[in-house]
Amino acid sequence: MKIGIHDIAAATGSLVLDLSELAEHTGTDIAKFQRGLGQFEMSISTEDDDIVTMAARATKQIIDRHGTDGIRTVMFATETGVDQSKSAGVFLHGLLGLPANTRVVELKEACYSATAALQFAAGIVARKPKEKVLVIASDTARYELGSSGEPTQGCGAIAMLISANPAVLEIEPAAGLWTSDVMDFWRPNDRSTALVDGHYSMQVYLESVEGAWHDFRAAGGAEFADIDYFCYHQPFTKMAVKAHRKLTEVAQAANPDASVASLEETMIYNRRIGNSYTASVFYALLSLLDNAEDVTGKRVALFSYGSGAVAELFTGIVPAGYQAHLRRDENRRMLDARTTIGYGEYRDRHIKFDQTGAYDTAVESDGPYRFAGVVDNKRQYVTVAS
Ligand code: HMG
Repeated sequence: MKIGIHDIAAATGSLVLDLSELAEHTGTDIAKFQRGLGQFEMSISTEDDDIVTMAARATKQIIDRHGTDGIRTVMFATETGVDQSKSAGVFLHGLLGLPANTRVVELKEACYSATAALQFAAGIVARKPKEKVLVIASDTARYELGSSGEPTQGCGAIAMLISANPAVLEIEPAAGLWTSDVMDFWRPNDRSTALVDGHYSMQVYLESVEGAWHDFRAAGGAEFADIDYFCYHQPFTKMAVKAHRKLTEVAQAANPDASVASLEETMIYNRRIGNSYTASVFYALLSLLDNAEDVTGKRVALFSYGSGAVAELFTGIVPAGYQAHLRRDENRRMLDARTTIGYGEYRDRHIKFDQTGAYDTAVESDGPYRFAGVVDNKRQYVTVAS
């Protein structure tokens, strides 16, 4: 039985900062961001939009198309959880009016956990082929103002419906795994911005590519030459290039330059969104599917990395007819429709993110869901009447 991604939908913040603004105000050569990091823009959320409302916008597209029949599990992967106890998925369950007979859980391991969720979902479907699982990745990447991580912020959500006989990607059984207990990037409970040892984090990422690849091959995974495309976790898109260069060395690829060039279509969305943590590798997949001419029958590898650190490499085959299940125009429109903000507004919003206690958020989102603020220590989510 084939199991995999039956539908995939995206959402991101409705605001955007062009990195030339950040470069100008921090006295940085823009070439460092654009050529050095491979980043051009970063998505930013309004006050009344968070990981839950972003995820709800992405998931709604799937529910509108497929309904809720057979969905009995929701896995919400995030490292920007809004509560230490309650799963962000339960807030989402409420907003979308999902059936009560659903198991809902939040998963965490930095940028990696949506990949674990995908594999867990495949296990549920293997056991109960009529069931479907919603896997949601939603995050806001934030570093301190003025820090070297600042140009690698962003936000985004990806929702996926995992089922038997999938229309978008048939996931193959082999997976390469790699874990190492390191402190390359972390966010203690009392902080809203991440702490990072930036260059060390890149080094660990590269080590994990090698480790996961060897395990993938030992687990019976395809040879390098039999993989057509590689989608990487992209904290900034140049990281994917560095990672793939490394893999071409490790796997002794015949034509490394051509292989690195084939990453191009996987980086189009992330260049404009920035880091979306758990969603990033799936944005790379979406970017490939939306922007490459025809990838029918091609084998795609996904490399997922979460600091701390856990990595996994797995592959899938794109089935015939997948194009009919995409939302290419909607996804491009979503990025083009973001409102451009200036550096001053970006700074104000960054500082305001840290509000605590009871507060209302400004009405900024044009729906369908809003985070309205905090009352009696309870987050208020509302559906906006259309
Ligand atoms: P930095 O130290 O400011 O930058 O921080 P740099 O000096 O290393 O320069 C970056 C690149 O720009 C270099 O390219 C420079 O040469 C180039 P490279 O040599 O590496 O190819 N450069 C220029 N190019 C053209 N014209 C110029 C110019 N100047 C410099 N004028 C760093 C960079 C990525 C470390 C920082 O932004 C950071 O700390 N980011 C956050 C951490 C991160 O993204 N790490 C990636 C791996 S870890 C990961 O992916 C997990 C993560 O997503 C979290 C999670 O799992 O939850 C982060």
